[in-house]
Amino acid sequence: MCGIVGYVGNKQAAPFLLEGLSKLEYRGYDSAGVAVMTDEGIVVKKKKGRLAGLSEMIDGGNAIRGTMGIGHTRWATHGEPSDTNSHPHLSNSGRFAVVHNGIIENYLRLRDYLTKKGFEFISETDTEVIAHLFEYYYKGDIIDAMIKVINKVEGSYALGVLCADDPDSFIAVRKESPLIVGLGEGENFIASDIPAILSHTKNVYFLENNEIVILKKNQVKIINTDREEISKEVYVVDWDVSAAEKGGYEHFMFKEIMEQPRAIADTVSPRIKDGRIVLDDIMLTADYIRNINKVYIVACGSAYHVGVVGKYVIEQMNRIPVEVMVASEFRYCSPIIDEHTLVVLISQSGETADTIEAMREAKRLGSRTFAIVNAVGSTIAREADDVLYTWAGPEIAVATTKAYSTQLTAIYMLSLYFAQELDTISPELLRKYINALNALPDKIAGIVENKADIQYIASQYYSAKSVFFIGRTFDYAVALEGSLKLKEISYIHSEAYAAGELKHGTIALMEEGTVVVALCTVKKLFDKMLSNIKEVKARGAVVIAIAEEGHTEIEKEADHVIYVPKCDDLTMPSEVVVPLQLFSYYVASLKGLDIDKPRNLAKSVTVE
Ligand code: F6R
Repeated sequence: MCGIVGYVGNKQAAPFLLEGLSKLEYRGYDSAGVAVMTDEGIVVKKKKGRLAGLSEMIDGGNAIRGTMGIGHTRWATHGEPSDTNSHPHLSNSGRFAVVHNGIIENYLRLRDYLTKKGFEFISETDTEVIAHLFEYYYKGDIIDAMIKVINKVEGSYALGVLCADDPDSFIAVRKESPLIVGLGEGENFIASDIPAILSHTKNVYFLENNEIVILKKNQVKIINTDREEISKEVYVVDWDVSAAEKGGYEHFMFKEIMEQPRAIADTVSPRIKDGRIVLDDIMLTADYIRNINKVYIVACGSAYHVGVVGKYVIEQMNRIPVEVMVASEFRYCSPIIDEHTLVVLISQSGETADTIEAMREAKRLGSRTFAIVNAVGSTIAREADDVLYTWAGPEIAVATTKAYSTQLTAIYMLSLYFAQELDTISPELLRKYINALNALPDKIAGIVENKADIQYIASQYYSAKSVFFIGRTFDYAVALEGSLKLKEISYIHSEAYAAGELKHGTIALMEEGTVVVALCTVKKLFDKMLSNIKEVKARGAVVIAIAEEGHTEIEKEADHVIYVPKCDDLTMPSEVVVPLQLFSYYVASLKGLDIDKPRNLAKSVTVE
């Protein structure tokens, strides 16, 4: 949510900021702006709408001359998307320009306070109070002002601040909102995410809460709120630039769908050694696992859907009770957990505010926290007791695909690890499952190869008004994800239902031409799914079925069938989701929509 980038060096700042923001647009794209230190003081240019509008307005950055600046791309929270509400925000005198990611919770009180002191507000944002607070507290020492500001504000923030009195350096800080520092040669950067600066440096610092950074072109100084200098380890990013580029594909989403075989192989292979699951750095001992009374999986959106698969997998394999809950509910539902509960957090970004707070609540209640995370160095990765990284690489499309798929494989491995450490799985069965995991990349590559069939089906139904996804157990869990994928990028109303539940009310919505995607891959429930398909067909629905190769009897019932390769129920969700991702992609593409940046969404939801 919202992207921040900052630059100080010898190059022109504005083109750099625009380039950096273009890599961060997936974090928010309601409006964009830059502030550059020029010979005439701070110049701010900002504009509602996509970054392209701002870029045009300032001639690709060439219209503003200066070698230090900050930029922002916004996902509106306080105040509608508008030129005025866009960042950067200026203090009344124009001495301070501020970009902010996060939410200032006490901004109304601060607004009152500052108004009484004579400050004038022009925007509806919470951020503007920060610009005025800087002005209020500044007595010639920017660090002192920064410390006073962060002592005054409540909430979450990543801030970049220019002060007109200092043409050679700028200051930044973070709390509960990500911010990294990029280290260059004769130039230094800040950014809310690695892709913004990856083509300029791979050396970064991850800032901790309330660490303040002062950047000059040849120096980066990090201090705490007692003004003590902090030395940090440099993290060297191990992806190359192409990982965060479209690489010839029309959309990141399509590229990321295609990358799934590689991403799954990278997540699985290093963890299988001599026929066993080896989770390096994971401190879950057999004794601990034996005493687990419950696993609680907590996550948001697609990551939550992985949790639903996880419930079926872990309960069936290990007979350990599993609860799955969306993170925004977890904190407020008085969860019954204790030191024998393992709380599993799943998050691509590792920065989702609700998931972070759920993790902290779980820790407060004495539970061990285990995170499945993609973004190295993210808040969840740093704070959880154990971290199992998914090696999906950077995921840029707002709608997740490869992160979801690697999270699934991480969940399978966690479940297998329990069984292996508890010695409750036979060597033959363990080998069978490990082979199934190893076989996934090729099977998925095969599904993707048949994309033309899925594209054809999409072409028949892209103008549908409503689509239902139905399935049972594992298939139901994947139906949730298929439905979310479709609605978020195609804006078609869609719902996922446990197939047996449909007739308890929702079947009233079936009528001539309603599209039903029926997932029929759970072997023992295949016949039951055939009955459910008959029920919806009898009410006029058109059925697209997903079935395992060889189950050709389905052709008698369904209007279209997409076959996926034979495999065990346990790993089948990894196959089934792929045609659903492609279906959504092609539907959105046929509708001519902005697939990578769907309306109202942002990649990383850092506000509650
Ligand atoms: C949907 C999607 C979201 C995320 C959710 C959690 O395609 O991407 O539903 O899954 O916002 O995000 P992370 O995994 O970053 O915690």
